[in-house]
Amino acid sequence: MRRTETLTANDAGIARAAALLRDGELVAFPTETVYGLGADATDAQAVARVFQAKGRPRFNPLIAHVPTRKAASDLIHLADDAQRLADAFWPGPLTLVAPLRPEADVADLARAGLPTLAVRVPGHPVAQALLQAVGRPVVAPSANPSGQISPTTASHVRDGLGGRIAAVLDAGPCEVGLESTIVGFGDGNALLLRPGGLPAEDIEACLGRPLASREAADRISAPGQLESHYAPDAPLRLDAPAPAAGELYLAFGQGTEGGLSLSLHGDLVEASANLFAMLRRLDAQAQGRTIAVAPIPEHGLGRAINDRLRRAAAPRHR
Ligand code: TXA
Ligand code: MG
Repeated sequence: MRRTETLTANDAGIARAAALLRDGELVAFPTETVYGLGADATDAQAVARVFQAKGRPRFNPLIAHVPTRKAASDLIHLADDAQRLADAFWPGPLTLVAPLRPEADVADLARAGLPTLAVRVPGHPVAQALLQAVGRPVVAPSANPSGQISPTTASHVRDGLGGRIAAVLDAGPCEVGLESTIVGFGDGNALLLRPGGLPAEDIEACLGRPLASREAADRISAPGQLESHYAPDAPLRLDAPAPAAGELYLAFGQGTEGGLSLSLHGDLVEASANLFAMLRRLDAQAQGRTIAVAPIPEHGLGRAINDRLRRAAAPRHR
């Protein structure tokens, strides 16, 4: 175990975080979606340490974070539709997967040997300042142990990874609260790889056509086979209009039945921002009880909320 420094997100804290990253250390930092576990993407050993710190069983590909659209274009080849999305939504909660440029300096392990790389330009001002100061792409999966709930505060990060990483840069709670939406352009056509903090409808409006979805294809070919992820210790029961006796309740709208409400006004933006922190709070008080969750509308950010809830409720293999 080592001591994990907590850095305030001022000029000195950001400079310290950047220096640690440039030295090959792991530093968690805020983005508008969730806190990321950062490492220098050009340093294969630093990238390997990310998998070790998270206890990730497999080398899943990671997202490279850069401060500008120009820095992104230096890493991947953005075809016309990808450029349109980059213009409309970067910086922001969108990740684009596209063919890697041969000259891009990113460790092979960061993309798990794939010919494509996932790249994101986050909009959070602290993430922006940090990435500018590092001057290299920074890989960052969510800063939580593998399979657990993503962190939306620095204290969530310390709870899960304290003692395993050099530092966490604390800038308060994340505004969006759900991971970025991932759109793939591997074979030229836009494919929704993960619903997230940017509603798919906004992307479709920008492209002027519906997005093909890997999520939907997977659910049809393998119903109920969702990989357990984002999971609290307590069992979850979804689409519950009300809790059963002895259950805790996560409501949407009024009628919290003594539990918590993701949004009293039924606002999906507020619900997204609250989702992970409220799951943690209910999990901490569950003591073997089930958490029942109200139905969430399957549109806009509701699609991403439902995706995370289904994974959190999926059978565990841990
Ligand atoms: O909001 C977010 O995206 C956060 C913040 C920290 O930026 N990051 C995040 O990273 O959620 P992570 O590692 O938890 O999820 C990244 C996912 C991978 O699990 C994988 O599914 C997908 O991105 N991915 C990465 N590279 C890919 C590639 N080359 N092809 C297809 N999918 C890829
Ligand atoms: Mg994650």
